Amino acid sequence: MKNIYLLGFMGSGKTSVGKRLAEKKNMTFIDLDEKIEESEGMSIAEIFAGKGEEYFRDVEKKVLKELSAMDSCIVATGGGAVMDPENLQTMKNSGVTVSLLASPEIVHERVKNSNLRPLLNVENPIDEIKKLMFERAAFYIKSDIIVDTSDLSVDEAADEIIGELN
Ligand code: S3P
Repeated sequence: MKNIYLLGFMGSGKTSVGKRLAEKKNMTFIDLDEKIEESEGMSIAEIFAGKGEEYFRDVEKKVLKELSAMDSCIVATGGGAVMDPENLQTMKNSGVTVSLLASPEIVHERVKNSNLRPLLNVENPIDEIKKLMFERAAFYIKSDIIVDTSDLSVDEAADEIIGELN
């Protein structure tokens, strides 16, 4: 079976929904950011701080390419991975793409206590969320399936994706 790639903004639910979806479909869950951390021996925040975003994006592309050779995996990607057309092509060639959406306010609520998102480590995160989301919307809508998770539980979102896959 092909892979299922979860795309979408930080805090849209890719990891939690992806894990639930993997259980329900008996597939293997993989978190792209975790694989990047393993491959670099550093946390995402350390990579951003020590080597910069451009370096991070290069590693992200390389690791995604490696993962695309697998099958029957649910892959939760980082929120910015879809900005690179080559990444989107890699995913489309090896699976189904599913974008998870959520409103800026819900995203803020979900990520505000996390120190894992260097891009949102700014004075006014809600403005930054809106700005980045606006820039990225055109990329997220290129997915095969789109699910708004704003008002859904993790379980409901996973079921909605399963319904759309069938
Ligand atoms: C990023 C999202 C993060 C992580 C990195 C950059 C982004 O992943 O890849 O901090 O550009 O939106 P999550 O979407 O899993 O938080």
